Amino acid sequence: MKTTIFADRRFPIGRVDEKLYGSFVEHLGRAVYGGMYEPGHPTADEEGFRGDVMELVKKLGVTLVRYPGGNFVSGYNWEDGIGEKALRPRRLDLAWSALETNQVGVGEFRSWAKKVGAAPMLAVNLGTRGAKEARDLIEYCNFPRGTALSDLRRSHGYEEPFGVKYWCLGNEMDGPWQMGAKTAGEYGRLAAETAKLMKWVDPEAKLVVCGSSHSGMPTFGAWEETVLEHTYDHVDYLSLHSYYGNRSGDTGEFLACSRDMDEFISVVEAICDVVKQRKHSDKTMYLSFDEWNVWFHSNEQDKKIEKWIQAPPQLEDVYTFEDALVTGCLLITLLRHCDRVKIACLAQLINVIAPIMTETGGRAWAQTIFYPFMHAAALARGTALMTKVDCPRYAAGKYGDTPYVESIAVLDEENRRVTLLAVNRSLTEDAEASLELGGLPPLRKTRHIVLQSDDLKAVNTADAPDRVLPRETAPGERTVLEKHSWNVICWEY
Ligand code: AHR
Repeated sequence: MKTTIFADRRFPIGRVDEKLYGSFVEHLGRAVYGGMYEPGHPTADEEGFRGDVMELVKKLGVTLVRYPGGNFVSGYNWEDGIGEKALRPRRLDLAWSALETNQVGVGEFRSWAKKVGAAPMLAVNLGTRGAKEARDLIEYCNFPRGTALSDLRRSHGYEEPFGVKYWCLGNEMDGPWQMGAKTAGEYGRLAAETAKLMKWVDPEAKLVVCGSSHSGMPTFGAWEETVLEHTYDHVDYLSLHSYYGNRSGDTGEFLACSRDMDEFISVVEAICDVVKQRKHSDKTMYLSFDEWNVWFHSNEQDKKIEKWIQAPPQLEDVYTFEDALVTGCLLITLLRHCDRVKIACLAQLINVIAPIMTETGGRAWAQTIFYPFMHAAALARGTALMTKVDCPRYAAGKYGDTPYVESIAVLDEENRRVTLLAVNRSLTEDAEASLELGGLPPLRKTRHIVLQSDDLKAVNTADAPDRVLPRETAPGERTVLEKHSWNVICWEY
């Protein structure tokens, strides 16, 4: 299959914000307990954080972690998770019908995030609580000293303020499944008032207001408009969420789902700009795609899980090789919109629809989807370039006419490197790619990393963690994108 990929230094899309490589840890399933935190584990440190997991998180290259939810946050009392652990209350988590022990809270999370080198992004509860509890939390976290809440933090052993910059104003507030779900008008007013108070406590705070839970919501579009009418002047980002699955068993269609993400982002950008014009504002609303992933494998299994137990094995999707290809396409799509999408979170990080899995008390390993993320986080840095791909196309079911090859070039001026990310969606044919990279001095190809498996359903498990692994190929004259493969190709100048 003949394929030509065009990109040019003179046609940039925008800077790739490092926060594009974020992830998400919710108090859900075994994400926190048995994942991030397991005091008795052989690799646990003095705070009870698993060392093997921290190593994998660092290897993945995650730059920011959203916490503590998700649906969980809409019933959360942040005060339950501070102070002496023995005194912390056990609560029913109504979001996931589980038991929450509160042994990990905001202080522990801040400490863990520091250890893995990721910026914390906290969500406040705007479901069952409101502006007061949110302004109290930001004061506890970020105010230096000399007030009841900042001194309370200091008395808990955290002398220095946490300096949490990124905050989500609730979670999926349009969803009927959400505790304290609201209409757009109700939420817009509450979010605006909460934002004012939070920024009065900490003017450096950057706030994310909730967009729709996904583009299929009946209120999608109208929700964004109304919420932004109320909050445009007070917030910095609007959120988007989207999960994909191969429920019909049609791989060709599934591999094209990034087209849905692409359209979703374009529509939300347009809505933001309509509100901007209507308000005669100079401010551009940025986007926070703070939940994205493949999620469907565990749906049936989850229905059988016992209720009200601690750390049940919920949402433990075992990812196939084809899921990794989808992850690659979704990453390319986010990069294509990096002029507006400034934060993105692969949802989630550990055990719960996650690139990293653990056995409680045992091993930790990387799922298939770990690798495209790791490659992009390490190498797709700098400026994304407009990238046009000339290649054959196919009819991808509900996603329609789709090019076989999905690709983006990213220029890293500092390291004098161009990185091309590319997925070949064809299930039968390799793509013989010629690359036309303009506006650059002569280039030397230095690397070609490939993730490919003959078995689209291959998975990594505790016993066989290396079934799907990337390999380096010799960076020769020709550039071949093997059938159904993820590719990272680097040139230097
Ligand atoms: O990530 C799992 C759940 O998906 C989150 O709690 C929620 O925000 C979304 O519906």
